[in-house]
Amino acid sequence: PTIYAITPTFSRPVQKAELTRLSQTFLHVPNFHWIVVEDAATKTTLVTRFLEESGLIYTHLAAATPPNYKLGRNDPNWKKPRGVEQRNAALRWLRENLKPTDRGVVFFADDDNTYSIKLFHEMEKIQRVGVWPVGLVGGLMVEKPMCDNVTSKVIGFNAVWKPDRPFPLDMAGFAINLRLLLENKDAVFSYEVQGGYQESEILSQIVTRNELEPLADCCTKVYVWHTRTEPPQLNVEQLLIKKGKRSNVGIEV
Ligand code: UGA
Ligand code: MN
Repeated sequence: PTIYAITPTFSRPVQKAELTRLSQTFLHVPNFHWIVVEDAATKTTLVTRFLEESGLIYTHLAAATPPNYKLGRNDPNWKKPRGVEQRNAALRWLRENLKPTDRGVVFFADDDNTYSIKLFHEMEKIQRVGVWPVGLVGGLMVEKPMCDNVTSKVIGFNAVWKPDRPFPLDMAGFAINLRLLLENKDAVFSYEVQGGYQESEILSQIVTRNELEPLADCCTKVYVWHTRTEPPQLNVEQLLIKKGKRSNVGIEV
């Protein structure tokens, strides 16, 4: 199968660094198709050029988050969902451009996480929805489905943050067989759900907890980490800008 990785991304000082880290992991993955969706009204030249030079097979889209759903500068990040508009645009693209006979697996690859190439080998096995542990999320070292050694079935989740969610796992903790997304044409992400319920929202529309396929050695291995990049201190740059100067004249950072 082709692995379709959907990455929402937005303009900020660390954006090119994030995309560089991701792309250089993805270059190690065979049959990989990157769907990059900018949170912007139109595609930027930075991302356009970046993708052209990446060496990856990709689709570049733009879908701006409506202003009323955009986080304010000082809003805590749990106030509004991120990536909804962008992931839905990517799902629409898949449904409009792929055939029912195309074989694939769809994964939501946020631009700040850290991915092992081993994760993508696991995805090749997915019949419906594969699940696995995610490191450094939900206030835990690892948040994971509990996997029964004998039956290899998911028998619960160790999540402590909002454990009553129908699918208490992070966006990085699952991937979906393309067939299910093409069959369930209306399955999308929504602004109308509580914080932390995006994963449950999409999964409830296409799968039951019973059908989940535990991967990564019965969920005993961590192949993805919910890392978050610290915003850089640009206080000196701010002073330069006030004086009408900047360090990055003619240099893309
Ligand atoms: C957690 C989950 O890991 C996300 O998958 C989920 O979307 C999010 O919570 C949520 O509940 O909304 P977190 O690390 O807090 O993630 O989210 P971010 O990494 O800040 O954002 C997720 C994705 O959306 C990233 O790829 C980011 O680049 C993108 N994003 C973020 C935008 O496209 N626009 C924004 O204004 C902010
Ligand atoms: Mn993140």
